[in-house]
Amino acid sequence: MYKILDKKALNKDVDLLVVHGPFVAKNARPGHFIILRVDDEGERIPLTIAELDGENVTIVYQKLGYSTRKLGELEIGDDIADFVGPLGKESHIREVKSVLGIAGGVGAAPLLPQLREYAERGISVDLVIGARSKEHLILLDKYLEFCDKIYICTDDGSAGLKGFVTDQIKELYKTKKYDHTVAIGPLIMMKFVVKLNKEYGVSTDVSLNPIMIDGTGMCGNCRVTIADKTFFACIDGPDFPGEEVDFDELLARQSYYKNEEHECNLKLVQK
Ligand code: NAD
Ligand code: FES
Repeated sequence: MYKILDKKALNKDVDLLVVHGPFVAKNARPGHFIILRVDDEGERIPLTIAELDGENVTIVYQKLGYSTRKLGELEIGDDIADFVGPLGKESHIREVKSVLGIAGGVGAAPLLPQLREYAERGISVDLVIGARSKEHLILLDKYLEFCDKIYICTDDGSAGLKGFVTDQIKELYKTKKYDHTVAIGPLIMMKFVVKLNKEYGVSTDVSLNPIMIDGTGMCGNCRVTIADKTFFACIDGPDFPGEEVDFDELLARQSYYKNEEHECNLKLVQK
């Protein structure tokens, strides 16, 4: 059992949990994820790691469907039945001088350890962070610890520039150049960020989160097409070079699964 040591609501949809998970905390690197089960009957929920501290692991999740809402009902002192990891491949940290991180909504959580790693290696790091509205901007305090500049945008204009991250990036590129970018957020965001960056000749790493079941390369459910070849996001990713990702295929598959429906479908698959 894995004890919840701290819990914070980042906004009405998103919670942060600090979980006592010594094995994961000791072995995880930026880009790794975990799979948890709330209880013995629970479905498997893959979640990227936002922070590590000693024996503790911070995860951030959006309460979208049955299982994540159930996770949201746990309180400090409660136990999580399974907490398996680290899973996946660690992020490929590039040999560059400057990096722009691009975070969309909850994507700010998985982006955090990767950008921090760049900053710790002495690489100049800026951030563009976009969300639906001011209250959906998460983890800004954490990014302020190491980012040189942070550019905020919101869909409704309640904070920063009114518009998508791509609008903010276009503004930024009028005056600044970066060697590399890392973009994590909704698929549609990553697709358009990669498209824009290609126009400016800037590379983009992305993190993919297709539906996962076992998380160990056995079920094939998380398959993605990268440079016309099939990979499994759970063992070959979740990070990939954005230019090589077939986003349209992933978007089409994502539309099969919607919130509660998809979690129910997964339960059926598991039984
Ligand atoms: P959201 O839908 O509120 O979008 C967040 C931001 O992304 C927007 O504010 C905007 O700036 C940008 N964006 C959205 N559509 C865009 C477009 N067409 N062009 C350019 N920019 C666009 O995000 P959310 O509700 O917080 O995120 C939920 C989604 O993110 C879920 O689908 C979830 O699965 C996914 N997610 C992905 C990862 C990952 O590792 N890739 C991690 C967490 C969440
Ligand atoms: Fe089953 Fe990746 S989740 S192969």
